[in-house]
Amino acid sequence: MKLIVASAVLAGALFVLLLAVVISATSSSKGGAVNGAAYADELQTALAGADAATGARLIAETDCASCHLIGEGRTAPLFDGLASVAGGRRPPLSAEQYLYEAIVFPGAHLLDGYANAMPNDYDQRFSLADIGHMIAHLLTLTNEGDES
Ligand code: HEC
Repeated sequence: MKLIVASAVLAGALFVLLLAVVISATSSSKGGAVNGAAYADELQTALAGADAATGARLIAETDCASCHLIGEGRTAPLFDGLASVAGGRRPPLSAEQYLYEAIVFPGAHLLDGYANAMPNDYDQRFSLADIGHMIAHLLTLTNEGDES
């Protein structure tokens, strides 16, 4: 009898441990892993065939401009010159890592003065390749006045 109780307790403890491991693994994949290797696998796939012109079309079709252009930067930051500042937004994330996170996990890091208003389902609405196209386009916007 004692043995049965002990095994049940042990099984319960193992189950709780397993659950904790699973929960921590899923939550760390939900963005926020801020290091030099962040999103490396996703970015490798996303950027493999990335094409800025396709990204520009996707961004126009998705109406990112309704927040990012209309309102002159009050609703959401303008994309003008984003390529020049993206690499410094969230060190040590590179420009590519930062842009990936900003599109896929917009709540992971909020810019000062802005609300957590961006849709957070773009990873379901777009393939990694599409997100790569968008990143490639945003990386062409090096100057003030470059349009989205
Ligand atoms: C409903 C409004 C809304 C829409 C639509 C929207 N965004 Fe955003 N976006 C925001 C807000 C607000 C922020 C600033 C807060 C934050 O960091 O999430 C932001 C931040 C960003 C940033 C970081 C900008 C910077 O200067 O660091 C990127 C990149 C971005 N959005 C890309 C996109 C793309 C690409 C789309 C379309 C596929 C899009 N957003 C659609 C509201 C929006």
